[in-house]
Amino acid sequence: MIRKHRLFLPILAFLWLSSFAADNSSPTLKSVMQGLGRSMNNLNQGIFLEDFTLIEKAALEVASHPKPKSQLPTIIKTLNVRMPQFKSTDSKVHHSAIDIAKLAKKRDMAGILNKHSVIMENCVACHTQFRLEISRVLSQ
Ligand code: HEC
Repeated sequence: MIRKHRLFLPILAFLWLSSFAADNSSPTLKSVMQGLGRSMNNLNQGIFLEDFTLIEKAALEVASHPKPKSQLPTIIKTLNVRMPQFKSTDSKVHHSAIDIAKLAKKRDMAGILNKHSVIMENCVACHTQFRLEISRVLSQ
């Protein structure tokens, strides 16, 4: 009985602490971006293979990328009045990815390519305007 308790409490403490760790850890913007890069590679692969299941899956990954919650305040503070511009490129990526997932169901390759180029334009538009600046403040 006593032995059981000796094990039980540390295990409980461990579970409690690890649930905290899970709450506090939000991904960095850099890791979010690396995930987006991989999802876009999957999307391209789906397009080249005409694999509409893969296209839909990869597009949904792009649309539902996680937010870098802990870094967001620094980004907002740095960009200030330019924040809407930053957000606008992100939401164009998001909406076009949702559109691609729908178009994949209809096997509409022309439509998919059209939205794919909107995504690419907005990935690059955000990078051209903000990447270096944000990368610098986040690495401080
Ligand atoms: C709202 C702005 C924004 C959009 C939209 C955006 N990015 Fe980024 N991206 C950034 C910023 C800022 C960085 C620099 C992050 C850093 O260095 O901490 C970055 C960096 C990256 C990197 C380099 C990560 C590394 O290892 O240094 C990749 C890859 C990337 N983005 C892919 C993408 C892809 C693919 C898309 C479109 C599907 C995209 N990004 C859309 C802002 C954006």
